Amino acid sequence: MNQQVIDEFRANGGRVGGMFEGVPLVLLTTTGARTGRLRTNPAVYARDGDRLVVFASNAGGPRHPGWYHNLLADPRLTVEIGTDDGRVERYAVTARPLHGPERDRHYAEQCARDPAFAAYQAGTTRIIPVVALHRPDLTDPERTKAIGEFLLRVHGELRQELATLLEEVDAHVAAPGSAGPGRAAPGRAAPVLGSRLATHCLSFCTALHGHHTNEDGAFTDFERRFPELAPAIAHLRREHTAVARTVTGIESLVRKLTAPAATGDVEKLRIELGSLAADLEAHFAYEEKRLLPALLGRAD
Ligand SMILES: [Fe+2]
Ligand SMILES: [Fe+2]
Repeated sequence: MNQQVIDEFRANGGRVGGMFEGVPLVLLTTTGARTGRLRTNPAVYARDGDRLVVFASNAGGPRHPGWYHNLLADPRLTVEIGTDDGRVERYAVTARPLHGPERDRHYAEQCARDPAFAAYQAGTTRIIPVVALHRPDLTDPERTKAIGEFLLRVHGELRQELATLLEEVDAHVAAPGSAGPGRAAPGRAAPVLGSRLATHCLSFCTALHGHHTNEDGAFTDFERRFPELAPAIAHLRREHTAVARTVTGIESLVRKLTAPAATGDVEKLRIELGSLAADLEAHFAYEEKRLLPALLGRAD
């Protein structure tokens, strides 16, 4: 049901029919508080000046929706919203839960717009959270500097993580008794790749995918603030798509190597990770060279 709504939303410029006909919806992509995986959920929104407010009603259910817990753990998320000309715009926001009279005023206004929200609140003992979603103010040099520094920090972490992962895969291939270079024996019952190494590999893929999804959202505002960066950003978006294809291939290879009757080739995994590392280094270097001078407020 969730996926159906998401697919219809994206295919129809942010509009969804059936029970959501005429309901103002956004898609929120948050980072799972426990899993680190990206999660996309529809939510009802209202506009409040430059920001959006969303309501964690969970249709009056007894618990807050998962996306609310996720944004408490990490307030950086991506919004998708329909535009007047029938497109879906995607951009990065920072979430700030509202409290006290400010929360109450926004919830009361929402009840006036849509009485279902009064019924949701009446049906639960929890106070339904209201969250404001702020677009970054890229006219503030301190804010853009913080974004630039954050980007550098994440690149550093991802570089380090991938280097460690490559060392671990190398050690696995070289270890006595491992499947070694070449194919796993046909019908082999044990996983070819240890579960710790597989988990490490998949969590790296998740982190990289999350970073690029967040960036794709952030690029919308970068382009507005720094129009001269548009060609570089178009190039970076294409590279994100290419990296996503490689990462999907690596994830499926890891699953084959850890299936109960494992098949696949650890050497192939090593080659794929090595080629990802080279592509990613070039991507990070280009991104840092083209975006950082503008974000950090330095001349190119
Ligand atoms: Fe990137
Ligand atoms: Fe990046």
